[in-house]
Amino acid sequence: MALLIKTDIDRGNAWVEALAEAYPELPTHTWPYDGDPAAIDYALIWQPPEGELRHYPNLRAIFSIGAGIDHLASDPLLPEGVPVVRMVEPGLTAGMSEYVTLAVLGHHRFIQAYGQQRQEKVRHEIPQIAAADRQVGMLGLGVLGRDALEKLAPFGFRLAGWSRTPKSLTGITCFHGEEGLGEFLAATDILVCLLPLTPETEGILNKDLFAQLPKGACLINAGRGPHLVEEDLIPALESGQLSRATLDVLRVEPPAEDHPFWDHPRILLTPHIASLIDPEGGAEIIADNLRRFIAGQPVADVIDLDQGY
Ligand code: NDP
Ligand code: OXD
Repeated sequence: MALLIKTDIDRGNAWVEALAEAYPELPTHTWPYDGDPAAIDYALIWQPPEGELRHYPNLRAIFSIGAGIDHLASDPLLPEGVPVVRMVEPGLTAGMSEYVTLAVLGHHRFIQAYGQQRQEKVRHEIPQIAAADRQVGMLGLGVLGRDALEKLAPFGFRLAGWSRTPKSLTGITCFHGEEGLGEFLAATDILVCLLPLTPETEGILNKDLFAQLPKGACLINAGRGPHLVEEDLIPALESGQLSRATLDVLRVEPPAEDHPFWDHPRILLTPHIASLIDPEGGAEIIADNLRRFIAGQPVADVIDLDQGY
């Protein structure tokens, strides 16, 4: 039995060390691997090259180093019938809620605008809107979206969320499906995207959606870059339909040097750091899931590949 690990170089060793602690009897190999492919039973992986996982004939389960599994589901050569398990880890959830809270409060309290004033040596009060008079709308009411809304609740915002299936959540006005999207958007002043990337959600942040928000709404995208139709963002900001945007993810990461978002004064970019998995916490989860898998017990967070998340 052996586990193949593919992450980025710096964090690769951290995972090996954390797994050695959490599951000492588990042999691990890091990618690129030039040993016998038949010796690999499990993969712990982030963004494998297309078709890579086909090379391991005895692969029994694939663990995503990430809450999102679009980096696996998008591979047309992903081995069939091998379960894919996503990462649900308390530290990852907490990190995302910190990011979303920071971004929402930053928009709510005009932090970027005051930052710009400072550059211009201007001190000018922007009329503050009460939190109770703003709706934070979350696209995606999964593990991350729900936790972020719960963390925002004490500030007094109106909270709303949109999901694929109906939900009933205390303190959150819930909408679902295409039929619920318009009503959800019409009252949302700060829109946060924490959707998984699937064929249904790709391009959802587009000019038609922006047009359904109140004029001057803010956008926060910490889901995936391809949720946003990038060429629709600057026109929406220039027309005032959107006032500002915070983007943690982009279609191409890092963006090209001449990408227009770099210099736009009303776009704040962060380099896909909204939340990072701590290998120690992640290794505990993987070890637990793997032991359950080997014992033939139900494993948490196996994803539905047909659903795409
Ligand atoms: P979950 O799978 O727990 O939740 C996904 C939510 O999206 C669910 O509420 C689901 O609806 C909803 N959804 C999916 N498809 C649709 C659709 N077509 N229409 C409406 N709603 C839909 O995911 P997480 O909350 O754990 O993570 C969300 C995403 O955040 C990840 O997939 C990843 O892309 C991103 N992420 C980004 C990070 C970063 O650092 N920037 C870090 C971690 C994650 P329902 O409840 O009805 O199933
Ligand atoms: C994830 C991510 O999906 O880091 O966990 O983006």
